[in-house]
Amino acid sequence: MLIDLIAAARPNFMKVAPLYHELAAQGWCTPRIVHTGQHYDPNMSDAFFADLGMPPPHVHLGVGSGSHAEQTGRVMIEYEKVCLEDRPDWIVVVGDVNSTLACALVGAKLSIRVAHLEAGLRSGDRTMPEEINRIVTDSIADLLWTPSPDADANLLAAGIPAERIDRVGNIMIDSFELLRPKILEAGMAAKLGLEARGFGVVTLHRPSNVDRHEKLETIVERLVEASKRLPLVFPVHPRTRRRLEEFGLRGRLEGGAIRVMEPLSYVEFMSLVVDSRLVVTDSGGVQEETSYLGIPCLTLRENTERPVTVTEGTNRLLDPEELVTEVAAAMERGIVETRIALWDGLTARRVAASLRRRSGLA
Ligand code: UD1
Repeated sequence: MLIDLIAAARPNFMKVAPLYHELAAQGWCTPRIVHTGQHYDPNMSDAFFADLGMPPPHVHLGVGSGSHAEQTGRVMIEYEKVCLEDRPDWIVVVGDVNSTLACALVGAKLSIRVAHLEAGLRSGDRTMPEEINRIVTDSIADLLWTPSPDADANLLAAGIPAERIDRVGNIMIDSFELLRPKILEAGMAAKLGLEARGFGVVTLHRPSNVDRHEKLETIVERLVEASKRLPLVFPVHPRTRRRLEEFGLRGRLEGGAIRVMEPLSYVEFMSLVVDSRLVVTDSGGVQEETSYLGIPCLTLRENTERPVTVTEGTNRLLDPEELVTEVAAAMERGIVETRIALWDGLTARRVAASLRRRSGLA
C-alpha cells in the first residue's frame, strides 16, 4: 500500500517526520515523501529534513514561490502527473498551506482517498489564506485527524459526518519528543552568549503583520521598546526579511537589543525556545510548542485557530500596542505547568493505527 505524505513548507516538515518514521517502521505500507517545493531555501527546507532524520524526498515537485493561484495551480499540475504515473492508495496532507489544499484537490478529483492531519482548526478569519485552505481541505478529505475537541466540534458544525473524524492529538509534540535529547544538547542560547531565561524569542511572518508598512513599523517600534526590558532573538522568515528591507525598517530593528538572524533549523530554534523567558510570535505551531513547554507565548494576532493554547496553555492574543506591558506581565508569570490531552508524543502511532484500520488491514 502506497501512502503519499505531502511536505511543502517549514511547518509541514515537523508534522510529516514522526508519521514517516512510524509508518516506515511498521512495514505494512510504503510511505512516499512528496516535497512540493513551496519552501525551498536550504534553511527553510533541507535543514529540517536533516534535523528530523528524514530521507531526501522521494518526489520533488519544485514549484517554488508565486501568487496563491500560481502556487496552488502549479502544485496541482505537477502532483496530478505523479498520481497518474504511480497512483497512491492514500494522500496524507498536513496543516493549512497552499500545497495542502492543492494535493487534497488532486486526490479528490482522481478518487484517491485523502486524509488531513491537523484537521478542524478554525480561526474564523477568512482573510487568512490558511483559513480558506483549512475549510476546503476539510470539506473534501475522506479522513480527518484532529488534535483537540474544539477541532471535532468545528468539523461537526460544518456538517462533516462523525465517522470521518479520528481525534489523534498533536503531532508537533511527537517531533519535539523525538528530538528532545538533541534539542537539549544544542545549547543555542549559550552559543549566542545568552543566559537561560534571560531573553525572549521572536518569530513573525503572517501577511497581516508584515505586509503593511504601518503595521510592521508599529511592531518593530514596540519590539525595540520591549527589548530594553528583555533582550530578544529574532530569526527572520524570508517574507518578513523582504518587507523589512522594502519598508526600510531593518536598521531600526537592529537598533534595539534584538539579535536579528537567518531562519534557524528546528533543533536550533527549539533549543532557543526551551531556554527562553517568553516568545512573541504569529506562528501557529509556536503557540502549541510554547504551551506544551509552559513558556509564556504572546501572539500578535486577533484570533487563533488553536484556542486550547489560550484556555489550557500559555498563549495570549494581543495587539502590538500591548506588547511592552504584556512582555513585563509575562516575565512576572514565568514558566508554568501545563497538560493538554493527547499532546503526548504518541500521535503518530494513533495516526498509523487509524490509517491501517481505515484501510481495512486491522
Ligand atoms: C507559508 C504558509 C503559512 C505557514 C508559513 C510558514 C500558505 C498560504 N502559507 O507562508 O501557512 O505558516 O508558510 O513558514 O501556504 N520564500 C523564500 N524561501 C523559501 C520560502 C519562501 O524566499 O524557502 C519567500 C517566497 O519568495 C515568498 C515568501 O517567502 O514570497 C513567502 O513564502 P510562501 O510559501 O508563499 O508563504 P509563507 O509566508 O512562507
